[in-house]
Amino acid sequence: MKSVGKTGFILTCLVTVLALPLTTGILPQTATAVNNSDSREGTQIKGQPVNSGHFLNVAHRGASGYAPENTMAAFEKAVEMKSDYFELDVQRSRDGKLVVMHDTTVDRTTDGTGQVRDLTLKQLKSLDAGSWFSPEFRGERIPTLEEVLDRFRGTRAGILIELKSPELYPGIEAQVAHLLKKKRMHKRHGKVIVQSFNHQSMKRYHRLQPTVPVGVLVSYTQYKDGITDEELKEFTAYADYVNPNKALVDSELVDRIHRRNMKILPYTVRNQESADQLIQAGVDGIITDFPELGYR
Ligand code: G3P
Ligand code: CA
Repeated sequence: MKSVGKTGFILTCLVTVLALPLTTGILPQTATAVNNSDSREGTQIKGQPVNSGHFLNVAHRGASGYAPENTMAAFEKAVEMKSDYFELDVQRSRDGKLVVMHDTTVDRTTDGTGQVRDLTLKQLKSLDAGSWFSPEFRGERIPTLEEVLDRFRGTRAGILIELKSPELYPGIEAQVAHLLKKKRMHKRHGKVIVQSFNHQSMKRYHRLQPTVPVGVLVSYTQYKDGITDEELKEFTAYADYVNPNKALVDSELVDRIHRRNMKILPYTVRNQESADQLIQAGVDGIITDFPELGYR
């Protein structure tokens, strides 16, 4: 009796410990975010893609909620989480190489300092672009655009290429267009879209390579009073996508963009409520740090 009682006590303790996270809600971040039916290497995906086949689930700077932004780890994670596209930011090194980086300095996301355009590719490649996010990603490197294209060309992953501050990099449009052509990724429906906040740059891009769809990014600060019909009409001359800050989006804007035969991919979605509101408004996809938000 005594030994049965002891065993019973141990079993009770075990069950209590195992059940604790369920009763208290203390669960790892990836598990609390969603109620899932499919799981891939620890990051769980909920249900089915929204409006499967049409809705674009775009991972912002890769799956940047789970891996350091704009690194191969973040792009691999985006694909693993079934994103249709991943977004990345392109700039240029001092010696003329196209590199994938958001900020115009390396200070925030690497262990180095200085302007991207003042550093050579060798200097940029020597930096650790992962540790700032988590020790698990120590040693992640800043990728070149060519490395990313080579890795994902021919896979199901689409790539949304943002030209970041192209005014700092004269001729960058022609350089990106040349690289896409060299990699044979320049044909329409080649799963590549090019976008920028700099609309003059996008006009140039469209003239250089009309086979690649172009997107205009629309910031809240520049368009807080809304996008006028005149501006939308102007966009139709060269753009296929109007990609605004999500705070600017309602169903009326979505309809106005659709009436002009363009698509809308708002940025940057970081919670389910926001994703659901945008989906309800009829957007064509979302640009998100958390790809599971594009599933229901
Ligand atoms: O793709 C949209 C988004 O990337 C634009 O903002 O600052 O994250 O490059 P940002
Ligand atoms: Ca971007």
